[in-house]
Amino acid sequence: CSSCCGLILLKTVGGPCLLKRVSLEMKPQVVFVLGGPGAGKGTQCSRIVENYSYTHLSAGDLLREERAREGSEFGQLIDNHIKEGQIVPVQITINLLKKAMEDTMQKDETKFRFLIDGFPRNEDNLQGWNTVMDGKADVKFVLFFDCDNKVCIQRCLERGKSSGRTDDNRESLEKRIQTYLQSTRPIIQLYEKLGKVRTVDASRSVDEVFAEVKAILDKEG
Ligand code: ADP
Ligand code: C5P
Ligand code: MG
Repeated sequence: CSSCCGLILLKTVGGPCLLKRVSLEMKPQVVFVLGGPGAGKGTQCSRIVENYSYTHLSAGDLLREERAREGSEFGQLIDNHIKEGQIVPVQITINLLKKAMEDTMQKDETKFRFLIDGFPRNEDNLQGWNTVMDGKADVKFVLFFDCDNKVCIQRCLERGKSSGRTDDNRESLEKRIQTYLQSTRPIIQLYEKLGKVRTVDASRSVDEVFAEVKAILDKEG
């Protein structure tokens, strides 16, 4: 099959080849990645992508991209929410996530495993996911980077020296931690009740944390 898998034996008459059919039927397999600001979600997702066949989608990165996009009607709203450590209405975030997943799978049908980093961060996020993605994706588990708030703040302040982020300052961080405690922790607890949370001690070194992540991913398959 010259158009996709390269294996002539898999070609079927009048339809897509076997590999193509299998992947077309493949639902996105999703791991939600949660933890406080600075817990190391992005760092660990990069390590996972280097070692496993996952695509990393950070809700925060997608929102920052949308904020910067010329002509975006949501730029100002996103900017305010980020500075204030508030969660952007899910209609915006879910559309960005859905499009990113679709674009990824359209470019390469074998890329159906996603790390969705920083989502769902509150009840509104979760409801939006359930409404838009119901039946369209399988959430395998939540990878939870558990990290002391003080460590999180220190890491973000350190990152703030070079990140250029408008929210890596003490004032925004206090608000982000509050949002995390009030809105995100209950979502993690909800998934915990379903037996879907895999917790990692994220206060240790990047290598130590990744060793734990690896053990989880190898077990989950
Ligand atoms: P998040 O995506 O959860 O906000 P990041 O991965 O961006 O967190 O990490 C926040 C900051 O902390 C970055 O500057 C990163 O280099 C650093 N960092 C990440 N993991 C660790 C770790 N295990 N120990 C020390 N610093 C870390
Ligand atoms: O995950 P990250 O630290 O990049 O998120 C930065 C900010 O982006 C959050 O504090 C929040 O304002 C916004 N965000 C959001 N909804 C999400 C993820 C991030 O509003 N699901
Ligand atoms: Mg991040």
